[in-house]
Amino acid sequence: MCRSIYASLMVVLTMCLMNVLSFVSADFESLSTSTNSLPCTHFEEAESSHIDINILALSFHNVMARNNKDVNLYYNNQKDGVYLEPGQSFVKLDNVNGRKSAVMYWNGNCISFFAYDPSAEGGHQKIFWNIKEDGLYHSWDNNSWQKKKSWTFNHC
Ligand SMILES: *[C@@H]1O[C@H](CO)[C@@H](O)[C@H](O)[C@H]1NC(C)=O
Repeated sequence: MCRSIYASLMVVLTMCLMNVLSFVSADFESLSTSTNSLPCTHFEEAESSHIDINILALSFHNVMARNNKDVNLYYNNQKDGVYLEPGQSFVKLDNVNGRKSAVMYWNGNCISFFAYDPSAEGGHQKIFWNIKEDGLYHSWDNNSWQKKKSWTFNHC
């Protein structure tokens, strides 16, 4: 008598456990398919499979306060510089082959840097530079910024 109660209890427990397991696996499946359909994933797939043109877009944005002097930017040893007033930006298109150097002058200070260095940019073809009173900031999405250099006085 006692044994048969245990036996039926085991059956009930086993079925219950199987239900839980199938529920968990179904849930996991729906979770992984919904992750696959996130727009972000599609965007990345589309980007990596469709961009095979080696164009580089470099954005230089002077984000200093209005009362500051212009920044003078010389791109990759070009003779003619570009003047950037506070608030102004400049976009340079180039190829992705090799490093691109740049020098900026502002108010007696300067910064020399690689506006593009393939070994540092991890395949990104859009590079954003923000120029501020305290130095130069780098971004891949024009949104999250990392400071790369400070202005140096008379030392370029
Ligand atoms: C980057 O963001 C700034 C501020 O949101 C905007 O004014 C600027 O046009 C953007 N630059 C590019 C190249 O999209």
